[in-house]
Amino acid sequence: CGIVGYVGPAEASSRPLDVALDGLRRLEYRGYDSAGVALVAPGRDDVAVAKKSGKLANLVEELDARPLPGATASIGHTRWATHGGPTDVNAHPHLADGGRLAVIHNGIVENFASLRAGLVADGAVLLSETDTEVTAHLLAREYRATGDLTSAMAATARQLEGTFTLLAVHADAPGTVVGARHDSPLVVGLGDGENFLGSDVAAFVASTHEALELAQDQVVTITATSVEVSDFDGAPAEGKRFTVDWDAAAAEKGGFDSFMDKEIHDQPQAVADTLLGRSDAQGRLVLDDLRIDESVLRSVDKIIVIACGTAAYAGHVAKYAIEHWCRIPVEVELAHEFRYRDPIVDARTLVVAISQSGETMDTLMAVRHAREQGATVLSIVNTHGSTIPRESDAVLYTHAGPEIAVASTKAFLSQITAAYLLGLYLAQLRGNKYPDEIATLLDELRDMPRKVRTVIERSEYVRATARSMADADKVLFLGRHVGFPVALEGALKLKELAYIHAEGFAAGELKHGPIALIDAGQPVFVVVPSPHGRDQLHSKIVSNIQEIRARGARTLVIAEDGDDEVRRYADEIFWIPQSPSLLQPLLAVVPLQIFAMALAGAKGLDVDQPRNLAKSVTVE
Ligand code: G6P
Repeated sequence: CGIVGYVGPAEASSRPLDVALDGLRRLEYRGYDSAGVALVAPGRDDVAVAKKSGKLANLVEELDARPLPGATASIGHTRWATHGGPTDVNAHPHLADGGRLAVIHNGIVENFASLRAGLVADGAVLLSETDTEVTAHLLAREYRATGDLTSAMAATARQLEGTFTLLAVHADAPGTVVGARHDSPLVVGLGDGENFLGSDVAAFVASTHEALELAQDQVVTITATSVEVSDFDGAPAEGKRFTVDWDAAAAEKGGFDSFMDKEIHDQPQAVADTLLGRSDAQGRLVLDDLRIDESVLRSVDKIIVIACGTAAYAGHVAKYAIEHWCRIPVEVELAHEFRYRDPIVDARTLVVAISQSGETMDTLMAVRHAREQGATVLSIVNTHGSTIPRESDAVLYTHAGPEIAVASTKAFLSQITAAYLLGLYLAQLRGNKYPDEIATLLDELRDMPRKVRTVIERSEYVRATARSMADADKVLFLGRHVGFPVALEGALKLKELAYIHAEGFAAGELKHGPIALIDAGQPVFVVVPSPHGRDQLHSKIVSNIQEIRARGARTLVIAEDGDDEVRRYADEIFWIPQSPSLLQPLLAVVPLQIFAMALAGAKGLDVDQPRNLAKSVTVE
């Protein structure tokens, strides 16, 4: 879910609503099952509320039809449904105290059933099925007892189990928004005569770049001119100041039809920015921001990469590169699986957590689990001020800029780039490679943005092919070595964006089962490695292509420029520039992203906000 809060000057105006709606628009990638706002103003004895199921546009329509009065403070919410379906009634904010108190919530309150029973026994009337409404009534009860919203919020937070960010406004305090966080994101935006709260900085970056990071289990109270932080017991605490280093314009579409299209075009820059400033004049890698003792990295004897979704596929690529360059065993595991088995982790294990948002709850829980067992955790994260880097021993930031489209593109390329940097850095530290070998690889890496741009420039043929396949109902993807995670990611993109059943396989595995899926006309993408590699991979995959063609498959091949051999077996061929084998994923995945986007577009689907998904899943 996305959360925004705002307090402005004492005279009521339209700004609180405008800030809330603009923040929600920028946070909508966090969920779009419903949206709602609550406003407070001096002299009013209730909270003004509007909420609507479906995307933010529905709420805006509702507000046009039934405008709300001017206000001094606002809270706004965009929902990814957990408890209760995506209906108007279940949409946030939820009211209590006779309509004088409004609450919005991100997370899951696990003990809500027993809390609800207690409230109902006390005579409370609850209208929705949500755990949020329970928190609103609890807060109202605490407020009645103390008359102070901040201490009531702390008292409420102490009773809740699970995860939550809560924001509340009360008609009695029209110049105040109170928030609390436990295992769920919340940052403060510091304005001039106004202050903000948001799930992430996108909520307020159009108004201010100055921000305050909160720790877990804190309550924050903002007014137009003050920000006060305390823990759940009421003891004063301090947030950590930081400045947002990207501009609001970076989170706009910039002339493209969709954020996804724009973000695909941002990819050369995302890779270049992630490499920027990370080596010295001698070609040695300098990862200053890592803030970790080199001796710890030298003593590592095993690496476990944990992540979810697209980030996990970046982890697969990391495995091939790090094992090859550093000779350290690398396992890759989905964070939620890692968390609930009994992994073998000790002080010499380096756990690498990869996350665009830095907030994915499955990954955060896995990070904590790893640290509890003594592992060193290094995170590769895109979002400053997020929770995972805060809770890691070390962090390597990707510099992809804000990624708004729900399905990941540029973050993926920047995560792979960061993984290469980490691999080369470990090789440098541990002496696995000669300095000139590292310098050469770095030069090749620095040339990748140019090649990514070339792939994007050639995308018209991919788009046309996709448009001609709008009625496909099943598409398969094959790859070997680093082409395997590329195949997996290509399939994921097609599922997410075009709702087509798509699967990626290791090409060698084909004959052990999946080949039974092939019949006449079945589209199969094949990621072909460089014909110049020293291994047998190229000829092996050419054989795989022949095997599926013999069974009627329609082959859509991604191959390097000049690969004349594979051309003969391809029904369609998408050329990418030549590159060192391990770096090829940065190029090979791009036509697959564009294919999925164009096919979804041809089906008339919303590529930025696919059904049922959210960009940052902050529940387990
Ligand atoms: C969600 C998104 C995916 C993303 C995954 C991991 O499921 O829809 O696109 O890959 O989370 O997100 P993270 O922010 O941890 O990289």
